[in-house]
Amino acid sequence: MNFAAGWKEFGVPPGRGDSWTNCEPEWRWPSVRSTTLPAKILAVMEEGTALVNTHTPGPPVTSDKGNDRRILRIGHRGAAGHAPENTLAAIRKGIALGVDFVELDIQRSRDGRLVLLHDERVDRTTNGTGRVSGLTWEELQLLDAGDEERIPSLEAALAAASGHAGVMLEAKTPGTGPAIYAAVQAAAFSGPVVYASFLHAEILEIRRIDPLARTLALMEVVPPSGAVLARKAEATLVGLAHDSATGELVATLHDAGLEVWLYTVNEPTLISRAISIGANGVISDYPERVGKSWPGFGG
Ligand code: G3P
Ligand code: CA
Repeated sequence: MNFAAGWKEFGVPPGRGDSWTNCEPEWRWPSVRSTTLPAKILAVMEEGTALVNTHTPGPPVTSDKGNDRRILRIGHRGAAGHAPENTLAAIRKGIALGVDFVELDIQRSRDGRLVLLHDERVDRTTNGTGRVSGLTWEELQLLDAGDEERIPSLEAALAAASGHAGVMLEAKTPGTGPAIYAAVQAAAFSGPVVYASFLHAEILEIRRIDPLARTLALMEVVPPSGAVLARKAEATLVGLAHDSATGELVATLHDAGLEVWLYTVNEPTLISRAISIGANGVISDYPERVGKSWPGFGG
């Protein structure tokens, strides 16, 4: 993908290329949204609740014009189908494959360093043993995370992606949301940033710090009303397990002004289904398959 061109789709013109939250105010997401979209009122039928979506997220990052529809291609854990997950190698592979975003899992070491790792323990993905939160940065650096890759710090991951792809940063543990946000600011990351978590308190805290941040509420199962949950988290996007998403649910979330990204979609037929039910973004270990699955995909 031509990243500079891609930025136009995110509302940031090439040349003004700056961090999503650092760029000039008129190009920041919510300022566009507040001038172009009125607040929507959604009747959430399942709960019989009237929902006022106060976080109406402006023009979608995808466009939906027949075959020109643009689906975001998001590399899961970098590009976990091709390189050891959540490593710099996986991030670089995702970039080489033309992702729009790399999705990364963030935790904190015993001595407070933000690092990339999915599980609570290092056992599955490294040659070590123990909880991430029980090991220091120095101890984590002794481990092989696969193919002799090290567990990267969030700072190193941001540096690897900056200027090449957006980042979807998933806060895996309580209390890390604001620290992740601060790390992005300190890094002056160049590209779009989406803050995500199943722990909605984390993204809500980020919303409190930065009303303009783009946040994504992850949901493991289909909730009675995903829109209500997302609203409580004041999120701008929702992430759903692909096998629990339906066209009806996606449409309901769209009507509430929320974009929908589906995870983790690897099989081509399932990628096609995800797109056909209206996903704005597809998170995949094999992100290159997302482009191939849809006629007219402009990646
Ligand atoms: O971000 C979507 C997906 O990564 C969430 O599931 O378990 O792979 O972190 P998991
Ligand atoms: Ca994840």
